[in-house]
Amino acid sequence: MKRGFGSDNHSGTHPQILEALTRVQQDHEPSYGTDAYSETALQIFKEHFGPKAEVFFVFNGTAANVLCLKSLTKSYHSVLCSDVSHINVDECASPENLAHCKLWPLPTSDGKLKLEQLQSAIIRRGDQHFSQMKVISLTQPTEYGTVYQLQELKAIITWAHKEGMKVHIDGARLCNAAVHLNISLQELITDLGVDALSFGGTKNGLAFGEAVVVFDPSLKEDIKYYRKQLGQLPSKSRMLAAQFSAYLTNDLWKKIASHSLNMAQLLLQEASKIPQVKITQATESNVVFAIIPKSWVKALREEHFFYVWDEKTTECRWMTTWDTRPEDIMNFTRKMKELADETSSRPLS
Ligand SMILES: Cc1ncc(COP(=O)(O)O)c(C=O)c1O
Repeated sequence: MKRGFGSDNHSGTHPQILEALTRVQQDHEPSYGTDAYSETALQIFKEHFGPKAEVFFVFNGTAANVLCLKSLTKSYHSVLCSDVSHINVDECASPENLAHCKLWPLPTSDGKLKLEQLQSAIIRRGDQHFSQMKVISLTQPTEYGTVYQLQELKAIITWAHKEGMKVHIDGARLCNAAVHLNISLQELITDLGVDALSFGGTKNGLAFGEAVVVFDPSLKEDIKYYRKQLGQLPSKSRMLAAQFSAYLTNDLWKKIASHSLNMAQLLLQEASKIPQVKITQATESNVVFAIIPKSWVKALREEHFFYVWDEKTTECRWMTTWDTRPEDIMNFTRKMKELADETSSRPLS
């Protein structure tokens, strides 16, 4: 398959991560996270998230989300989330089936939950007939590539804690948000008081692997057992640890995110020159959302694959990644310009 704009899951492993993976092949190491590489990775996470951070590697993002929600809820709890959140629409009801909580999706136009909306969603407190709202799950950056500003997060988290609620962040692409906001991971997560974080690796250049990060020692105890029950305790943990260590060292995370974001800006800039292309979301991360004429989709996809997000409106999702090249974007937008010219020069019938 040609290099396209389908997903940051479509690209391979970043060469520096691959190199880190090959380095840990040399010797034997103890298993299940008791190896030296896992200890090094934990220390590196603590440098980024503060000394209270506790880290649990898992194989994928769905498991990270489930593990966070399981550790924050009881079976009579609800999780407020956006209608387009990955936990709501793309995890095959895993949170409900494996974390045994109820999801309570709220409508959003840009993927971001608003404080007032959350405040009015808190109803029937203490009513034994009603599942009790306990967690707010925010995706940062959102599934639409929009980014919560620090002030927005601060307001939501402060209020949630005052209400006795916990906050989970689905950070499958968290580093893109940190780079967009030009802040550290500590400022974006720890200083705001986030309770549980799903920290993404795979979409950002790792071959596989995500990390659950929590700060409360009592959660650490539960997660240890829940991870095993969910089948997510990696035996060769060093394979995940080494990748995360490389990712979080020498600013590789920043370099990867900056590249993906710059490529999205270039795509936005070039696509915006074409009158028939209607940009539908703010481009704040590594993705551009746009409505294009339906008749263009097939020819464009033959050049560079992408997903149609909404079949009814032909809203498309164009996602960039660590190995997107400017020439991919120029070729893609050139093809769009050709299609635009053909459409406008076609005689009326
Ligand atoms: C925002 C978000 N969260 C979580 C995930 C879960 O990832 P996985 O497919 O690894 O379970 C994805 C995957 O696309 C995602 O986009």
